[in-house]
Amino acid sequence: MSGIIYRKIIKPVLFNFPADQVHAMVLTLGRWLGSSGIARKFIGHLFSYHNKSLHINLAGLSIKNPVGLAAGFDYDADLMRITPSIGFGFQSIGTVTLGAYRGNPRPMLGRLPKSRSLLVNKGFKSAGMQAVLKKIGKNNFEIPIGLSIGATNRRYENFNEITEEIAAGFSLVRIAENIQYYELNISCPNLINIASFTERVDEPAGFTALLARLNKEQIAKPLFVKMPLEKSPEEIIALCEIVIKYSWISGIILSNLAKDRGNSAFDPEEIKNAGEGNFSGKPTEKKSNELISALYEKYRGKLIIIGCGGIFSGADAYEKIKRGASAVQMITGMIYMGPGQIGVINKEIADLLKKDGFKSVAEAVGTKITE
Ligand SMILES: Cc1cc2nc3c(=O)[nH]c(=O)nc-3n(C[C@H](O)[C@H](O)[C@H](O)COP(=O)(O)O)c2cc1C
Repeated sequence: MSGIIYRKIIKPVLFNFPADQVHAMVLTLGRWLGSSGIARKFIGHLFSYHNKSLHINLAGLSIKNPVGLAAGFDYDADLMRITPSIGFGFQSIGTVTLGAYRGNPRPMLGRLPKSRSLLVNKGFKSAGMQAVLKKIGKNNFEIPIGLSIGATNRRYENFNEITEEIAAGFSLVRIAENIQYYELNISCPNLINIASFTERVDEPAGFTALLARLNKEQIAKPLFVKMPLEKSPEEIIALCEIVIKYSWISGIILSNLAKDRGNSAFDPEEIKNAGEGNFSGKPTEKKSNELISALYEKYRGKLIIIGCGGIFSGADAYEKIKRGASAVQMITGMIYMGPGQIGVINKEIADLLKKDGFKSVAEAVGTKITE
């Protein structure tokens, strides 16, 4: 019911305003609602869905359901108190950069409704690590909160400066006891574009140097590397061969945004008129799913996979789980379907598990690959 109200009444109104403006408004509203116990309870009652079969253990984290908010929506830590009520099982904040960073000129966001996609041109806008940690404060949250860390898209003097900046971010976040996992973002297409060095964080030489530097940071919480989307399974395997040398890395997230405008999931007119940036939602789904299958086949039992890209329904999430994802993350499906969709997706996953005779998400993970 709330989904219909959102899609028929609220979304058409919101979609009349620039996406940047609506995003800022949602963050303010979310922060405000999250600060009220009554609002949290009411929204939780309205939206969230609980079922024992959805409970997962992700790299030692006990999580009520496998659906997380992906990095990028709550980039400056405004929503940690309200996301559990909406029904998320876990949430990533960020990507946070070491210093405050202004990002790209507006518009930073756009919509491609026919393609069920968002145009993202944020360029690592961040309040900076100190400011974000201050906002997160010392309170514990209802669900595991993770922090995505990355470099900016500014001009760096040399590659070493990038690895040092990311390492300094990890060094600062260590004091935040209420942050329960980390993401290392090597995959924003914007970041890759500006690198004029021979090394790049998303290619073996640069990635090796980055992990060797982070190895000195004594990272003691689960860390997931957020991988680029538009690489072949072999290229991602080459990066994972470096990942598996480090026991402090728990797994990988497959994957980040799409850049390729030739992707057949786009509506041709919409993509022709799209401004500068990269794309989320349905255009990321097929490639993300293919990578999950290929990487699960190679690294099952060695690396945990979090699936991300184009999840709008429980069936979309379940497809990623059956291909090998132990959990999933999403943003765009929530924007198009409404905040009530997280509970709907969880209910649909629980129903699909039951239909297939699985008692838990863990039992379903990778069954499409192993059967
Ligand atoms: C507005 C927006 C901002 C994003 N910013 C980031 C980011 O800062 N760091 C990151 O790792 N991914 C970022 N992403 C990518 C998402 O985390 C996710 O990988 C991608 O959107 C695919 O998932 P979806 O189809 O469910 O949105 C962003 C996505 C969107 C829509």
